[in-house]
Amino acid sequence: MLGLQNMASSSSDSSSGSSSASQGFSSTYEFMEQPLSPIDSFNQRSEHNKTLDKGVGTGGGPLLSWENLTYSVKVREKKKMHMRTILHGISGEIYPGEVVGLLGPSGAGKTTLLNVLAGRIEGGVLNGKVLFRGKKRVPGVFRRKVAYVEQEDVMFPMLTVEETIMFAARLRLSNKQYSQLQKVERVASVIQQLRLSHVKSSPIGDNLNRGVSGGEKKRVSIGVGMVTDPDMLVLDEPTSGLDSNSAEMVVELVRDITRSRGIASVMTVHQPNSNMLRCFDRLLLVSQGHLVYFGSAEAAIQYFESKGFPCPLRQNPADFFIDVMSLNNRSPEELEESRRRIAFLAQSFGEAMHPTAKLSLSYGGMYEKMPASPQDPGTGILTHGTLSGSALEWGMTADETPPERINWFYELQTLIYRDILTTVRHLSFASAVGINSISVLLLLGLLFYKIGNEVTSIQNRIGLFFSLTMNSTYGIMSHYLYVYFKSKDIMLSERGSGSYRMSTFYISKLVVYLPIAVLSSWVYFIGIYFMAGLQPGAAKVFTSLMLFTVLLVVTMGVTLMVGSFISTYDLASVVCAMIVTTWVIFGGHLANAGELLAVISWMQYISPAFYAYEGMVATEFNGLKLHCQANNGLCMARGEDVVKLYKLDQFTVGQCAVIVFGMAVAYNVLAYMSLRWKAKPKYLWV
Ligand SMILES: Nc1ncnc2c1ncn2[C@@H]1O[C@H](COP(=O)(O)OP(=O)(O)OP(=O)(O)O)[C@@H](O)[C@H]1O
Ligand SMILES: [Mg+2]
Repeated sequence: MLGLQNMASSSSDSSSGSSSASQGFSSTYEFMEQPLSPIDSFNQRSEHNKTLDKGVGTGGGPLLSWENLTYSVKVREKKKMHMRTILHGISGEIYPGEVVGLLGPSGAGKTTLLNVLAGRIEGGVLNGKVLFRGKKRVPGVFRRKVAYVEQEDVMFPMLTVEETIMFAARLRLSNKQYSQLQKVERVASVIQQLRLSHVKSSPIGDNLNRGVSGGEKKRVSIGVGMVTDPDMLVLDEPTSGLDSNSAEMVVELVRDITRSRGIASVMTVHQPNSNMLRCFDRLLLVSQGHLVYFGSAEAAIQYFESKGFPCPLRQNPADFFIDVMSLNNRSPEELEESRRRIAFLAQSFGEAMHPTAKLSLSYGGMYEKMPASPQDPGTGILTHGTLSGSALEWGMTADETPPERINWFYELQTLIYRDILTTVRHLSFASAVGINSISVLLLLGLLFYKIGNEVTSIQNRIGLFFSLTMNSTYGIMSHYLYVYFKSKDIMLSERGSGSYRMSTFYISKLVVYLPIAVLSSWVYFIGIYFMAGLQPGAAKVFTSLMLFTVLLVVTMGVTLMVGSFISTYDLASVVCAMIVTTWVIFGGHLANAGELLAVISWMQYISPAFYAYEGMVATEFNGLKLHCQANNGLCMARGEDVVKLYKLDQFTVGQCAVIVFGMAVAYNVLAYMSLRWKAKPKYLWV
């Protein structure tokens, strides 16, 4: 088989004196007048994987085939909405053991095509056909058979490499099929294969905390996908941001894994060097949403040359292909010229592909390999296949039952363990919670220290409960909104690959966050209670503490509900602040609860802070004896009179407790449902 350099050099020899890619192509072709050269190399698989047909049971057919994929989105241009087509009738297929490199200029539609192939496209209109093992994809099955490695590495920065891959194994590998030991062994083998053994105990890290390198992080992302033993790997720009050595290593590893495991991989890479190019069995070139070429890299050079675009000597073929396929914005003439060039290439390839290599998916997408054609120059380029009528045979063996889900309790246990680890290791969060508790304890404890039983203590008592109510709501919202958003991207990505149920995710968040919120709040609540010298009876302390605690649970539910509805942290924190401000305004402290305008008075009844505050104030004042001083014009000797004066007797303490408890349940159910609804992947399937 000829190497890429040889191909490049032979092609350039034959065209010495022609313009280089970067110098423009205007004189090298005649639009639509050049006869099509009889290249039938596209749709060919490289020699090595001709024999590869293991592991995924395709019986010789492609693992994934796609036909005439067209994708459009609604866009606004010049104040008018119209449909913009991003993919124009793209067809192709990928076989087990094969690595397909998806190349094209920026904005060509590479990520869009990858998303369509991986079943991860949302919004817009998708037409065409995608078959997995010759059959229509079953979302639940397909999602778990494809590992999608996104461009951004979405992982918990505080977990180690080994923990990250181990959690993926624990969450996605069924307990019935894999024992704990087998999972550990699998993780170890993935770590070894990805050459991550030396950093397995290092944290992933982020901008603030140094962790593993960019290349290692990318390999961990691949490991997370690999550990579930997928049939196909889809990678979007796995080399972006990496130096050339790390980038080469990633691409080579993907090739090795693809071959050793007999899976199929498709990846986009910006500017692959010739070593990386050699790792691709076939190139899929797209420009402006059109398929420009699909076949081996070697044949690509020949093909482009046959169309009047010879690859100059010593130019990296990948750079050359991208140059030829790019729009040139330097001048209107050059732009027009490049548009015509791309249209020519797209049309040429479409016409060349049509009569001979078109996939007929109605036959199940099967290709029967033909012996090399007489035109085949013996370069190792295979001839294209033809359709076989008995193709459905291999598709029949496909396993369409979704991989078994892991046990609900085991899933919950795993998520709780992961949430505990990430929360405890999240130092800024832990310190924020700790500092908040101690500072509130000291500030309020000293401010209201020994408030006594004078009539003047009425204001202090009321102010104390107001401060406690405010802190429990503002504090909880700001802390937990932040930690929730930190894990939201990971959750969305994991939900996209069907990792776990929303019920376990939600319960795990409550199980881990609530005790931290509750215990840290109890520290200052109880401390302040006794520093201030409020009524000491156990029943009173317990009642106020319970009302305060249930208010925390309501706040947590509302925080998660806002977080699920609103996609950005900035907006969600503004909305949370508005909600808490409303609660506080209508909480019964700032304005007398019985004196509000009818038009807004209803708002106090939807404020959980109102019930918690009213309940706590009533608990404290009921039975309280106040000392009336001589010559004091106004004297309320009984705490009950104070409650009446402030109109905080609209509900009994018991009613307040029941209403706040009901709100806690209702808000959490609503938060769970909205999270479930919003985080449900709404992917388009064809
Ligand atoms: N949902 C969408 N709404 C509007 N335009 C979109 C949408 N998705 C993609 N596009 C547009 O479609 C084109 C192709 O996008 P895509 O992200 O697939 O390009 P790409 O080849 O991956 O580019 P890059 O190399 O820069 O990552 C771009 O012009 C992009 O702006
Ligand atoms: Mg992209």
